[in-house]
Amino acid sequence: MQYTIDNTLARAGELVGEFERRIGDVEPMERGIAISEALFVFATVADLKPRRILESGRALGQSTYLLGRAFPDTAIISIEANADHPDAGPALQRLRGLSNVECLFGNSRVLLPRLTRPGDVVIIDGPKWFRALKLAYTVMRRRQPALVFIHDCERGTPFRRFVERRIPWSFFSDDHRFVQQYCRLDRYLGDAELRRWSDPDHRPRDESYAGTFGCIPARPGFPGLGAMLRVSGARIAANVAKSVTKRTITAPASRQRAAHPRRRDGTASPGAGASS
Ligand SMILES: C[S@@+](CC[C@H](N)C(=O)[O-])C[C@H]1O[C@@H](n2cnc3c(N)ncnc32)[C@H](O)[C@@H]1O
Repeated sequence: MQYTIDNTLARAGELVGEFERRIGDVEPMERGIAISEALFVFATVADLKPRRILESGRALGQSTYLLGRAFPDTAIISIEANADHPDAGPALQRLRGLSNVECLFGNSRVLLPRLTRPGDVVIIDGPKWFRALKLAYTVMRRRQPALVFIHDCERGTPFRRFVERRIPWSFFSDDHRFVQQYCRLDRYLGDAELRRWSDPDHRPRDESYAGTFGCIPARPGFPGLGAMLRVSGARIAANVAKSVTKRTITAPASRQRAAHPRRRDGTASPGAGASS
């Protein structure tokens, strides 16, 4: 099966009506993936008809809920680290009605490589950035999922550049053709913002749209040992850069804000390989 942005665009065009029927009344949530991002996953894996989707990072369960509704015949296995977090109870409550969803608590870095089976779909939205990629690589090497999605692949970040350079067959939900057509699903943005993103002549060129999923389709022999070492090295380098920046940067808060714009949930946009 060929996974490319062109195939995702074609399938999204055919399936958006069915997707909206399935998830139609789900309200957007500030802290969670965007509804158009769920369509990106839905359209990408539509032909695979996955038996299981494993998710790492549930929080309040917006992504879990969208997956559970969009894929009623697929087992959604969701892993969240933090059972004591105030999000945990409301997420379980919300997901209780979906019989295809199983909620686990634990560290995905331990559980995902154990639970994934060949042909599964894996979605990582915590841990973040290079930690997420290292986890993706580990799972791909040991368990052969069909493809892995990683959230928070924002354009312009060192992490995104790394993924684009090292995994050239990966593709992203902030592809301008996808955003232009389907940002309308993210009503929380408001009319003016939606017009901005859907106008081919005036769309923002340098900004990433929403958190942004990166999709990494499996390839035989990937990742090899060299790729594993490179991602470990990049993670260490990003952590060192982060701690040096923390100690030395004295820029006024306004300048720092411009460099790392706020996301819609008010948290800082992910920067140079920070980790959760
Ligand atoms: C951005 S939130 C997830 C949002 C959710 N996917 C949604 O769209 O509603 C990230 C979550 O990942 C969890 N997380 C981070 N590292 C983790 C790990 N190693 N194992 C399991 N969960 C982890 C965090 O506790 C946090 O709740």
